[in-house]
Amino acid sequence: ADGVSLVSPGKLTVCTHLPFAPFQVNDDSGKTVGFDIDLVNLVAKRLGAQTAIIDTPFEGIKSGEDMATGKCDIAAAGMTITDARKEAILFSEPYFDATQALLVPEGEDVESLEELEGKKLGAQSATTGLDYAQAHPECGCEIIEFQDLASLTQALMTGQVDAAINDLPVWTEALKANPGKASISTQFDTGEQYGLGMKLGNKSLKKVVDEVLAEAKSDGSYDEIYKEWIGD
Ligand code: ARG
Repeated sequence: ADGVSLVSPGKLTVCTHLPFAPFQVNDDSGKTVGFDIDLVNLVAKRLGAQTAIIDTPFEGIKSGEDMATGKCDIAAAGMTITDARKEAILFSEPYFDATQALLVPEGEDVESLEELEGKKLGAQSATTGLDYAQAHPECGCEIIEFQDLASLTQALMTGQVDAAINDLPVWTEALKANPGKASISTQFDTGEQYGLGMKLGNKSLKKVVDEVLAEAKSDGSYDEIYKEWIGD
């Protein structure tokens, strides 16, 4: 349909990197669900295709490699649109706004990176949170990388790091699962926006994706998805 050719006919093959709740996470039955999954399901529906999810390291997603090599048609990974990534990825129109935030153990208060002097700051590999930490040497902190959000969150909860940096909405979600154990001590207004990522030049898929996103925003389905995964 619409001149779109899919890497595996009849399927919209989606690369994501788990877990990144509330955008992508496995539910108790092992099914991948979340905000981004609801969005790509709308795209798949429009294409008359089934959604097929591939869980793969974020590095291959953000470098554009997974889409360039045909591992997947589209990346749905809470991925921030950046100028550098645009060189290798065709992004949809933005669908979500985010900033960076620091998660700290309950009772701690870190209002600026400088307060982490000589301490350990955890960050997720290949992400804009890691980029932000590395771009602020005034932190004077030791940056420790974790492959995924689960191991980063675990490191913070068990005291292996003094603070952890990642996107605000995932920390908000993590606090729901760990009440009273940690808090968000500050935010850095990075003005990030998430986009779905496609292979450079795949204009026919981007056209469908952008149309589906625009429609979802105007017909109320985006608001429903937002309410379900983020809240009011
Ligand atoms: N928004 C951040 C970025 O683009 C983090 C995304 C990480 N996503 C994931 N599914 N692990 O770098």
